[in-house]
Amino acid sequence: MIRTMSKSLKFLSMAGLVSVAMAAQAGEVEVLHWWTSGGEAKAAAELKKIMQSKGHTWKDFAVAGGAGDNAMTVLKSRVVSGNPPAAAQIKGPSIQEWGDEGVLANLNDVAKAEQWDTVLPKVVADVMKYKGNYVAAPVNVHRVNWLWVNPEVLKKAGAKVPTNWNEFFDTAEKLQKAGVVPLAHGGQAWQDATVFEAVALGLGGTDFYKKAFVQLDQATLKSPKMEEVLTTYKKLKKYVDKNSPGRDWNLATAMVIQGKAGMQIMGDWAKGEFLAANKVPGKDFVCTPAPGTSNAFTFNIDSFAMFKLSGDSAKAQKDLAAAIMSPQFQEVFNLNKGSIPARLNMDMAKFDDCGKQSSKDFVATSKSGGLLPSWAHGMAMYSATQGAIQDAISQFWNTDSMTAKQAVDKIAAAAKVR
Ligand code: GAL
Repeated sequence: MIRTMSKSLKFLSMAGLVSVAMAAQAGEVEVLHWWTSGGEAKAAAELKKIMQSKGHTWKDFAVAGGAGDNAMTVLKSRVVSGNPPAAAQIKGPSIQEWGDEGVLANLNDVAKAEQWDTVLPKVVADVMKYKGNYVAAPVNVHRVNWLWVNPEVLKKAGAKVPTNWNEFFDTAEKLQKAGVVPLAHGGQAWQDATVFEAVALGLGGTDFYKKAFVQLDQATLKSPKMEEVLTTYKKLKKYVDKNSPGRDWNLATAMVIQGKAGMQIMGDWAKGEFLAANKVPGKDFVCTPAPGTSNAFTFNIDSFAMFKLSGDSAKAQKDLAAAIMSPQFQEVFNLNKGSIPARLNMDMAKFDDCGKQSSKDFVATSKSGGLLPSWAHGMAMYSATQGAIQDAISQFWNTDSMTAKQAVDKIAAAAKVR
């Protein structure tokens, strides 16, 4: 059904090009995203502002739900019914899946005029292209392997910021004795996967991570190392409060902000929450690489893929693509979002120390081999494989009777799902 629809869209977009050339009028952009938390919403508002300043109408299509699971379900039904938005937050290998459906717009003219091939790192540019043509524009680079800490809470408990997993458990014990929740966590499949990913990287290292989650190598997935990772991961549960099932990630961050919890393992969209609550990095909160992962950087690039449209909407859509890539937008958006610009050679002066460290580590790890796609955030696998592995991990987290060995077998089987 998507394929039939795409043929008619192709026709429509050709007609659209004619009217763009003749009119170049302001149009409407409908943009699907899932940025509804405090920091996220502030960042999204910057995109709206920039489009309105160009005279376009912004139609907000926000679908709440961390990591976009709900948003993707809604998007599928809109596209299948022949009514796609102008742009949707689509990331990583999923861009290729949508490209295969024949519904994405070609952005090469904007990309050429604005020199995207020069201003983007190749690793980022490649993800934005389908069969060599630009179909999406990146807004940022999030680092996922962070630990967020309330230093005041740790101090009171006589605990220190952990740099490896042994230290983490030591700190967690002390926090528990002091009567605070050691680890703020929301029991949702994507959050379970985010924490698991950090444990796997911290204990297994970069080569193990690549073999297991990028190459989906069966021997690595079934290795004793993976069993050890799962056992350690499950040990974290003791330090999570009983209200965690179903909790949204930003509410878990709020626990750290309010001093109800000591730590959270989360990508740097969490920083957006601290900043939106007027908290100061280095003073009210600390960002540090997740235990044992300081030499690695799990990246998560948010991007907007554009759908084939016609007429003034198509023109507005190209303006959106150009706006997203402008240095002005990349700065202000990322100051709010917690991430760093996707564009190269940006001035980082206005960014805080977490942002500066992220930027430095992004460059360093891209040279050392420590720059890794975050599989929990859709950067490494097709969505069906990711979903199956994520489910296996959540099942293990939630089922006390399940052994690490059983989980290993489930994960290895899930890795074969396409
Ligand atoms: C990530 C996304 C981030 C942030 C987070 C929580 O997958 O890349 O931009 O929104 O989910 O929703």
